[in-house]
Amino acid sequence: MKKVRKAVIPAAGLGTRFLPATKAMAKEMMPVVDTPSIQYVVEEAIKSGIEEILIVTGKGKNAIEDHFDANITLENNLREKGKDKLLQTVVSTNIPQIHYVRQAYPSGLGDAILQAAPFVGDEPFVVLLGDDVMPNEVPLTKQLIDVYEQYGKGSVATIRIPKESANRYGIIDVDGELAENLHLIKHLVEKPMPQDAPSNLGVVGRYLLTPEIFDILRRQEPDAGNEVQLTDALETLNQTAPLIAYEYTGKRYDVGDKYGMLVANIEFGLEHKETAEKMNHFIIELANKLKEK
Ligand code: UTP
Repeated sequence: MKKVRKAVIPAAGLGTRFLPATKAMAKEMMPVVDTPSIQYVVEEAIKSGIEEILIVTGKGKNAIEDHFDANITLENNLREKGKDKLLQTVVSTNIPQIHYVRQAYPSGLGDAILQAAPFVGDEPFVVLLGDDVMPNEVPLTKQLIDVYEQYGKGSVATIRIPKESANRYGIIDVDGELAENLHLIKHLVEKPMPQDAPSNLGVVGRYLLTPEIFDILRRQEPDAGNEVQLTDALETLNQTAPLIAYEYTGKRYDVGDKYGMLVANIEFGLEHKETAEKMNHFIIELANKLKEK
């Protein structure tokens, strides 16, 4: 069995849910407190033992490359001023094992992943979406790698969702249980109406895939919106190389969405040593004011 060494992070979407902020800025660079959301997923990949990362970028995404590259002027300035702690923080985001490829048109998540075919070659790999920040003692990516090493199967990460939100997720039609939190998949259904959803297991942004996915993506017709959907390709892959739906039970912040981003900023702000005390105070005062209303 080949070791899982590579990760793909698609980041070429238009981020329309954050307009106008994303008119001239990559949504993946939007911060949770002081850290761009894409940095959390890069750190998760590295913590999970991933050795090489490919970020799929596109027009207007140059700040992502700059963020993970050295900034000599800034480093010299911080060094001269003796701001050693900040210098350390800045240098720790220079990550040479990140590679880049561009997706010419935002033609869907499936098409973005297809751009990674030459990078991935003939190896199993993980896909991480920056929209999902999922802090956990054992990173979710590592959990998927452990499942692959034990069962030799690819997987999609899922969470239990409120059924009324089914039309925002790929939903699993379950075909039985392999072990605790490991569900066999009959079908993957893209964004069904809540009444048609076959379960409340919704796919979130971590996948462990095998390279057969690329041939499927190459052959797949775009949908009505002219996008190549990953869920459709996973449905095809599952027929010949069954996937596991891994049920993740840890924390998740959907930072690809305004509300999720606000919640993440509040909760991380309550933990951050520079803001925790003030934030706590502010939230309690605000809650009291709201109660009086
Ligand atoms: P989303 O649908 O959440 O991202 O895709 P989006 O299209 O950027 O955002 P909205 O919905 O318009 O606000 C999930 C992930 O897939 C990437 C996105 O960058 C995001 O990380 N993606 C999506 C691509 O890389 N290329 C695409 O063509 C579409």
